[in-house]
Amino acid sequence: MLKGKTILIGISAGIAAYKICELVRMYKRVGANVRVMLTPNALNLVTRLTLESLSQNEVFVENFDIKEYKPEHISLCDEADILVLAPATANTISKIANGICDNLLTSTVCAFNKPIIIAPAMNTNMWNNKFVQENLQKLSDNNYYICNPESGFLACGTEGVGRLCKLETIFDKTIEVLNNNKKLQNKKIVITAGGTLEKIDPVRYISNFSSGKMGVALADVAYHMGADVTLVSTFSIEKPYNVEKVQSTIDMEKEVTKYNNNVDCIIMAAAVADYRVKDYREQKMKKTSDDEIVIQLVKNPDILKKISAEKNTTKIVGFCAESENLLENAKIKIKNKGCDYLIANDISRKDIGFSSDENEVYILDNNLNIEHIEKDSKLNIAHKILEKIFE
Ligand code: CTP
Repeated sequence: MLKGKTILIGISAGIAAYKICELVRMYKRVGANVRVMLTPNALNLVTRLTLESLSQNEVFVENFDIKEYKPEHISLCDEADILVLAPATANTISKIANGICDNLLTSTVCAFNKPIIIAPAMNTNMWNNKFVQENLQKLSDNNYYICNPESGFLACGTEGVGRLCKLETIFDKTIEVLNNNKKLQNKKIVITAGGTLEKIDPVRYISNFSSGKMGVALADVAYHMGADVTLVSTFSIEKPYNVEKVQSTIDMEKEVTKYNNNVDCIIMAAAVADYRVKDYREQKMKKTSDDEIVIQLVKNPDILKKISAEKNTTKIVGFCAESENLLENAKIKIKNKGCDYLIANDISRKDIGFSSDENEVYILDNNLNIEHIEKDSKLNIAHKILEKIFE
């Protein structure tokens, strides 16, 4: 949803400036054009070269360090779709709120007439300062989007409010502000993510390498498209939508079947264990003198197959992880599972799939029509999948 957008990042001199290098990468990964400007003091905390390499663009600091003649604060404004000020220090916030333009960054913010996100970060006492709060309130009252700082351990050695919010929060806010595509408003969607875990004894388990990134990307994008999202996840994650944590396949089955025929769509992106341990040991298994041991496994329910057989009003989407003969196996799998769509991906490729931020998939429908989605970030792939399913 940020593909082709130009994001202008303004960095002021807070120690959290180093974190913005990763934010640049996050925007770049989804195909955004990133421009960066810094206050002169921020340049003591993060280098121009780092930011130029990551953004693949020239970085601006001073009003007068321009190579060709053009007022940079105006041309940056024209080019950008959104301005993200992070970290925003007490000093820069207060200057902006009072119309002060004493460097390139503050001049640009003053001239910018499109959405501005502000992510403050500072020492707790500065954050609690009455004038800083009044200035921030002034910005908030004037339609600046504020990503409030979090509480935690601060670089100055104290604990309290003032730490830059998570980069995901700024990233999500950027999508939320720029994205008018609320195509999934009024849709209820349940998405599973992660690998289920089958316990052997209190200290051991069987699981798989799924990172859950594809499921989370689908949930994030569905949320940004206006859907009412529930993520059924095998790991803990904080999100602005509902997250239900499960562990085993049986847990996931119980959770997911509750929603069948009560929501518009269920997407089974989780890597579900096909087998579980037959006899769970209440006590830790001890090492014996035998060189081999046998752990018996029993078949788990096939959740996708079950909900597809019982579905009436809910659209059911499955995933298909294959390490060979991708499309042949996918065609057999969609018929066997009985779902409406199957998203096939090749897990043998190192550049996509498990743990990767990128993927390349084929979308099959139950008439065996196939659409190829070329390699892209998991967020962009998620967007295309949701567009296709709700076409
Ligand atoms: N799935 C499920 N319940 C299971 C196993 C898989 O709901 N017990 C779902 C997965 O969430 C996925 C789809 O079925 O959406 C296909 O999973 P995949 O691992 O590719 O296939 P399997 O059905 O496990 O078959 P195989 O391992 O033989 O390829």
